[in-house]
Amino acid sequence: MIESKFAPGPRPANNIFSQISMFLTMQRDIMGMFKQLKAKYGDIYTFKIGETYNYIISDPDAMHEVLVTNAKKFYKDRDMKDTRNGLARFLGNGLLTSDGEFWKRQRRLAAPALHARRIESYAETMVNYTETMLNSWHSGAKLDISKEMSALTMRIVAKTLFDADVSDQIERVGKAMEAVQSLAGPPPVIPPWVPTPHEFRLRRAGQTLDDIIYGIIREWHKTGEDKGDLLSMLLLAETEDGERMTDQQARDETVTLFLAGHETTANSLNWTFMLLAQHPEVEAKLHAELDAVLAGRSPTLADLERLPYTEMVVKESMRLYPPAWIIGRQAIEDTEIAGWSVPKGSLVNLVIYLAHHEARWWPEPERFMPERFALENDANINKRAYIPFSSGPRVCIGNSFAMMEARLLLAAIASRYTLSLEPGQQVDMNPMITLNPKNGLPMTVRIRQPVLELA
Ligand code: HEM
Repeated sequence: MIESKFAPGPRPANNIFSQISMFLTMQRDIMGMFKQLKAKYGDIYTFKIGETYNYIISDPDAMHEVLVTNAKKFYKDRDMKDTRNGLARFLGNGLLTSDGEFWKRQRRLAAPALHARRIESYAETMVNYTETMLNSWHSGAKLDISKEMSALTMRIVAKTLFDADVSDQIERVGKAMEAVQSLAGPPPVIPPWVPTPHEFRLRRAGQTLDDIIYGIIREWHKTGEDKGDLLSMLLLAETEDGERMTDQQARDETVTLFLAGHETTANSLNWTFMLLAQHPEVEAKLHAELDAVLAGRSPTLADLERLPYTEMVVKESMRLYPPAWIIGRQAIEDTEIAGWSVPKGSLVNLVIYLAHHEARWWPEPERFMPERFALENDANINKRAYIPFSSGPRVCIGNSFAMMEARLLLAAIASRYTLSLEPGQQVDMNPMITLNPKNGLPMTVRIRQPVLELA
């Protein structure tokens, strides 16, 4: 018999008091706890809660094993799939939360609509919606940029993927999103039958999302036509026996794409604008590139290849603040990671944020330096240590969509406005399901004139 060998880590939380203490620490400052334990035990450590091993991993090769080479041994974790306290409560059995053959089929159905070539036709909508937002701004206004970015990316995803206009639902979805985010972390200790205010908030959020998504599906059924969008593709797809997707399944896929497709991109832009405001020298370089290429006009898809610095800024911002900062998995059989024993049922957390901040892979890791992603520095980057979109078979299906959107929106906004923080204003992280700025992102927006080179 092979002897089990477990990664180092703190003592097991095996009585109710140590479990509650661990739970409260996680609730209070999960990132702080992960960082502290990493400093003590390294890039792979484990602790037991009850009978379950929890692995916390930020070693690039070990993450690669879980996501790519040994991906078959891991499913999405039980906390995510918990239909009362996990994301599955809202997303049901959609792409993000399903597994196995079912997931594979659904992924095959959705993939063509998000393919790099296909999404090119979405560029114009992305820019038009951004211009509409900018036309509603005025110089000197103090805005919560996180609200602006969420509203914008939400409208874009609904229009491009479902041909739907959700402009009058923005506020309701914003509230629902707060409830969805509150599902981050370990499940609460309060039993399911206690009608807490939190439980009521979750019910309201579920109702809001159902109203909107079933509304979109009902609207589609009125004609039942292939409009060439993702929703049509999903609803018209047939199994080998000629069966269509049920409305329930279409709802789960639609709500998944709706939520996964806007909140993350919104956060990548939030952090980018915060970083630009804190680093005027980077902002000046960005402005110089935008002015030289766009000369004050709106960006188009064709411009993107001439905006390499814009792309570098987005990539570096996602290194420092990866919107999906942690990925959860569960071992479906006894296995190993980096030679350590991982019994069936173990929870495996890949902390992308920690890998993105590790000095061994990123010199001066806390410094905002878009030049790291310059073409000439490409060979110096450990690709396994930079995975904002994950990797392997479950890599983000909206990767190309998100990169195109983030670059276009940044270019459109930064060519017309500068966004600034108050002197000394601190923006803290709120590591929920996504990495949000705590208490929103109040910033002052000011019109800027492009500096045009005289011919
Ligand atoms: C900056 C923006 C984005 C980031 C950082 C991001 C990140 C990620 C990551 C890390 C995963 C893997 C999660 C896991 O395995 O547990 C993921 C999966 C996913 N993302 Fe994204 N995402 C972004 C934008 C988008 C967009 C725009 C869409 C849709 C249009 C989208 C749809 C999805 C879906 C459906 C999955 C599940 C895929 C599967 O498991 O097959 N994401 N994303």
